[in-house]
Amino acid sequence: MFPSRPAARPARDTSRSAHDAFRDGPELDRRTVLLGGVAAGAVLLGGCTRSGQAAVSSPSPSVAWAPPAEPMTFPTGYTWGAATSAFQVEGSTTADGRGQSVWDTFCARSGRVKGGATGDPGADGYRRWQEDIALMSELGIGAYRFSVAWPRIQPTGSGPVNQLGVDWYRRFVDGLLEAGIRPAVTLFHWDLPQALQDAGGWAVRDTAERFADYASIVFDALADADADWFTINEPKTHAYVGHWYGSHAPGLRDPQVAVAAVHHQLLAHGLAVQRFREQGTSGRIGIALNLMPVYAQPGAEEPATRVDAAENRLFLDAVLTGQYPADAIGPLPGQVPADRDRFDALVLDGDLATISEPADLLAVQYYGVTGVAKDGSQVSIHPTSAASWQQLWPEGLYDLLVRLRDEYPAIPLMITENGIPDETPELTIDDPYRTAYLREHFQQAARAIADGVPLEAHYVWSLLDNFEWGEGYQQRWGIVAVDFDTQERTPKDSFGFYREVIAANAVAPS
Ligand code: FCB
Repeated sequence: MFPSRPAARPARDTSRSAHDAFRDGPELDRRTVLLGGVAAGAVLLGGCTRSGQAAVSSPSPSVAWAPPAEPMTFPTGYTWGAATSAFQVEGSTTADGRGQSVWDTFCARSGRVKGGATGDPGADGYRRWQEDIALMSELGIGAYRFSVAWPRIQPTGSGPVNQLGVDWYRRFVDGLLEAGIRPAVTLFHWDLPQALQDAGGWAVRDTAERFADYASIVFDALADADADWFTINEPKTHAYVGHWYGSHAPGLRDPQVAVAAVHHQLLAHGLAVQRFREQGTSGRIGIALNLMPVYAQPGAEEPATRVDAAENRLFLDAVLTGQYPADAIGPLPGQVPADRDRFDALVLDGDLATISEPADLLAVQYYGVTGVAKDGSQVSIHPTSAASWQQLWPEGLYDLLVRLRDEYPAIPLMITENGIPDETPELTIDDPYRTAYLREHFQQAARAIADGVPLEAHYVWSLLDNFEWGEGYQQRWGIVAVDFDTQERTPKDSFGFYREVIAANAVAPS
């Protein structure tokens, strides 16, 4: 079902926009497998039309869009940020009593991660944090999104606190605050303590309870930081890619376990929001969902509606409306192929109320879109980047934001990840495709704000080149290049572009 195909890297062409900068380079994909084929016309599910087709709902046309001639400005106080995560940048995987995570285990298994890469050295962020804060200051960002490594706080996922781990994050947060940078703290970015995995991981309910206890410890340690908090990073990717496709830790291939991992992560989110309120922690809290506009090829509206359920509504509906959609899980084309009754048996009375505990914000992670064919398979309808799962379509960001405005209860929105990898694994400073990508996505964000979307922040993924999961160190997403031998940091050209956008609080047409 998820065939491995050799990577075909595109020829470099710096003159074109991010839309055109890449051609398909499919390989075993980390989250969806694109089966090829370009849509002649497609319909956006729960959103707008493209290519002149009738909309399934919300009929505002979303054809290719051109920016105005004048720079587009952002509201005063708009937050510009950059993001990373613990396992991807910290390195120092055995320092100060850190326990093992599922990613350490996964990396140690031969053939799972490209080049046999591990979390060491990462970008050596655990030791170079002062240098990194200086880079952030140079960039001018108002906020930095990072994650706390649960195995540094509780090495076996429960029980006593590892004070050395807590102290490190306290120092780091104080460093950010001194630099005038708002901490944006993710509590779980996929590095589950291995001991909890051994006890069943996200397949079992107890892990959600353990997460709430861990969250309480971190809230307590950083109670006064006035941070933005994100409970779980991309529960969909962790559930599907880690528990169904098997190409992320913990490397399982069972869709029934994957949907259990969805429910228990969402429950963990809700329990953590409750603890946050009970403890009176300062700041705001929400979940970070990766969402993806789904465009149906002609005649594929029904399977595409199910893909939309599995990719988007399973998470959005649960968190924002307290319901699971009826069509995400089951045997039909486009669904997660798991037994719905067995899933429902995991959902106890009160769980959906917990999951939909009112949050302060919704964090949206946007990388691109997907097409859906009549057989329910996800197909490529736009060029992909060097990450074969990423179909480049900046207008999709607008479609997504407008959909959230129209179909869900009002809630402040943030884009907490958005970015593109370099074309090749080699260290690169010259990255016009990234500048084009960021420019076009900032424009779509500005366009959405002008149309009444309550968008408050935009974080670029990533501040630094880092460990990109199954791709190891061979896919570089940073606006700062990292030489993994020397750990020398060099800002890429896109860093300079981003600095100008931040300084002007505006994005120019070209
Ligand atoms: C997101 C992940 C992040 C990084 C980017 C490229 O899905 O949250 O850690 O891998 O993709």
